[in-house]
Amino acid sequence: MRLTNTASRYGLISQFFHWAVVALLLFQYTWAWRIDNAEGFRLRLELVTQHKTIGMVVLGLALARLVWRLFNRPPPMPATMHGWERLAAVSGHWLLYGLIFAVPLTGWLYSSAAGLGDLWWGPVNFPSLVGDSERLEGIFERLHQACAISLGVMTGVHVLAALRHQFWIKDGLMKRMLPSWSKDS
Ligand code: HEM
Ligand code: HEM
Repeated sequence: MRLTNTASRYGLISQFFHWAVVALLLFQYTWAWRIDNAEGFRLRLELVTQHKTIGMVVLGLALARLVWRLFNRPPPMPATMHGWERLAAVSGHWLLYGLIFAVPLTGWLYSSAAGLGDLWWGPVNFPSLVGDSERLEGIFERLHQACAISLGVMTGVHVLAALRHQFWIKDGLMKRMLPSWSKDS
């Protein structure tokens, strides 16, 4: 199994970025739900802090992943894919890339405008991006929510497309994003 992408599959590093973001997003949506249902100010504050911390990890991973993507081209799509399928896959993937930046960035803006203060992540400090403002807080709250919903919907479409390849077209596309222990791949 190679670290870098080959002509037939994604390498371990791309796979790590892909599945780590999937796992953290699952955590994020679960936490958003828990925040909504939390009773008591202390528990809510604790959950929101964890949500923000993990969200900043997603932002960091998105940045590292994008840089890696620019230097390490993805494997070409299977030759059997039609023009419209290629266009749908490429635009869908770039939309997903855009949203994994937009969701944490709007969250960061929302939390800044709400006056929740600087975000400390161990010794690392993420400063407030804008000053306290009720008007901006309302705008960024709705934007954060809209981006998070769009990411959820796009992920649903993406997973359906992956399942279509796996069970209908049966072109082995799924394997490209999963580790393989054979020497030559
Ligand atoms: C990266 C992935 C992230 C996802 C998928 C995500 C998703 C969500 C969702 C679905 C909600 C509930 C929206 C609603 O019903 O109004 C929410 C709320 C929130 N998010 Fe995020 N978020 C992410 C990152 C962040 C980041 C990085 C921050 C701040 C630094 C942040 C700050 C907040 C805040 C303050 C709330 C409101 C919590 C409350 O109700 O008090 N989020 N997020
Ligand atoms: C269980 C959920 C998921 C499954 C089964 C899945 C499956 C896959 C597969 C099989 C590929 C490779 C496609 C190819 O060979 O060309 C892929 C690529 C990709 N996936 Fe997912 N995925 C999932 C969730 C997500 C999520 C949540 C995101 C959002 C951030 C995402 C973003 C991407 C992107 C951007 C690519 C293209 C990678 C590149 O070319 O750099 N996936 N996914």
